[in-house]
Amino acid sequence: MSLETDLLALAVDIACEAGQLAHRRRSEGVAIAATKSALADIVTEADREVEELIRARLAAERPDDGFLGEESGAERGTSDITWVVDPIDGTVNYAYGIPVYAVSIAAVTGEPDPESWDAVAGAVFAPGLGEMFTAARGEGALLGRERLRVHDHDGPTGALVATGFGYDPATHEGDLARLARVMPLARDVRRLGAASVDLSYVAAGRLDAYFERGLNPWDHAAGGLIVQEAGGRFGGPGGRRPSTTMTIAAAPALFQQIERALAR
Ligand code: IPD
Repeated sequence: MSLETDLLALAVDIACEAGQLAHRRRSEGVAIAATKSALADIVTEADREVEELIRARLAAERPDDGFLGEESGAERGTSDITWVVDPIDGTVNYAYGIPVYAVSIAAVTGEPDPESWDAVAGAVFAPGLGEMFTAARGEGALLGRERLRVHDHDGPTGALVATGFGYDPATHEGDLARLARVMPLARDVRRLGAASVDLSYVAAGRLDAYFERGLNPWDHAAGGLIVQEAGGRFGGPGGRRPSTTMTIAAAPALFQQIERALAR
């Protein structure tokens, strides 16, 4: 087995356990533990508990690796590997009982910096949907055992496009203006509420494209690799890396069309 496959096996195992815990806590009822940067930016006790579980399992199995988690921050490791974790991506859905939320776990190599790291394994487990999306660098992307391929959308219009909106109300006007620029390409628009699921759906051909401003690395580290391994293009505009400025995922031709529309 390659290192990538080993890391993926561990990510899948931990994502399963973490997802089951999140699912169980959801059925017991969820309380919002705190509001972070804005009204929509919430954390539940379950987010913290699930991240603790993931962090403890990784520390036990791979003590030399680094960690970057949405809720508990960063810790540099001594190996070349960092785990990038969103314990519950789609927290607002989770809090409202909408089953579109996921545990997202990625292993990246290189400096623990999204500007330069390389994702090598990623698992996105959506327990409310009963779906596990995975990818290992160079080995393709899977939904369960089924191989994924992005939908090669061809044409100047008719794409099913997903996006998201930042939590900060001050950013809403700009986000809506960007969506308006992309609309001529679209058949319809989805706002699923969990970036890792949006990306996994692009990989599965359930969405033609996804773009969002304001994403954090833990939102896209696993899902971005899943898109690339399904033959899609994932990144920022102008050949840049995905960043809080803009992240786009689609088949290569549609990626370019969205990039151009956003730049207008
Ligand atoms: C959020 C979700 C949402 C996206 C936000 C993310 P969180 O992650 O992925 O779809 O629009 O930008 O922050 O806070 O639920 O982990």
